Amino acid sequence: MQRLTGKIAIVTGAGQGIGEAIARRFSTEGARVVIAELDSSRGEAIAESLRSAGAEAIAIPTNVANANSVDEMMAETVSQFGPPDILVNNAGIAVFGDPLSITDADWQRCMSVDLDGAWFCCRAALPHMLAKGHGAIINIASNHSFQIIRNTFPYPIAKHGLLGLTRSLALEYADRGVIVNAISPGYIDTPLNRKFFDEDPDPQARAKVEAKQPVGRLGKPEEIAAVAAMLASDEARFIVGANIVVDGGVTIRMYE
Ligand SMILES: NC(=O)c1ccc[n+]([C@@H]2O[C@H](COP(=O)([O-])OP(=O)(O)OC[C@H]3O[C@@H](n4cnc5c(N)ncnc54)[C@H](O)[C@@H]3O)[C@@H](O)[C@H]2O)c1
Repeated sequence: MQRLTGKIAIVTGAGQGIGEAIARRFSTEGARVVIAELDSSRGEAIAESLRSAGAEAIAIPTNVANANSVDEMMAETVSQFGPPDILVNNAGIAVFGDPLSITDADWQRCMSVDLDGAWFCCRAALPHMLAKGHGAIINIASNHSFQIIRNTFPYPIAKHGLLGLTRSLALEYADRGVIVNAISPGYIDTPLNRKFFDEDPDPQARAKVEAKQPVGRLGKPEEIAAVAAMLASDEARFIVGANIVVDGGVTIRMYE
């Protein structure tokens, strides 16, 4: 059974990693998918591969940190597919540092993509969803949304804010048919993390992270996409303002 037949879904940052997996899963569930991606060639390649598998998909070059770019993406979505039913705020960047060493530009870059970007997309999608009386917004948060690792400043601040945005909008619009939820992935095997491992001088960096995971491995992007498909479907209408942690159990562990 396809769970998203006829739905119009926007996935930001769907050119690779978790967003790509969500876009692929949504299209196999019958959705028409908009790849709203900063890297236009990667976005177009994913859209083309979905189309060649028989799905309806378009790529719209988008910088979520820029409100005009987001508004243009929304207008293009409406004109090509119609008003959106589903928005996944997945685009995000990791800016990690020491609080007193980061620059204003680092802080701004992190907040503008990870927090402003999600808000700009919600703000552009909500009027369409409210007019339909139906919609689902899924924010890709993080374990950094509720726990802190030293020297990852200011990423967790933006991700804590994203959880606040999720809960705030969830309560504002629950009685008007729009559900808003978050997924908090743990350590997922994506290009973002593979780059960190490649740049780490320690050849055992990946093995050490894997050893810290209760399940002994990193998560797969498809394991996040499966939860996103559930939250986007009409089976999830009583899940409101939730944060579903998909992290292989790493955050339930106390001191060891
Ligand atoms: N990978 C993990 O372990 C992990 C864990 C927790 C949360 N997350 C979150 O999941 C999301 C996706 O992570 P990933 O690992 O797949 O990342 P990734 O870096 O592999 O992919 C992110 C995608 O977003 C795009 N993007 C970046 N800035 C953008 C912008 N301004 N506008 C539009 N697109 C933009 C990139 O071009 C890229 O295609 C992020 O929000 C990240 O914070 C990831």
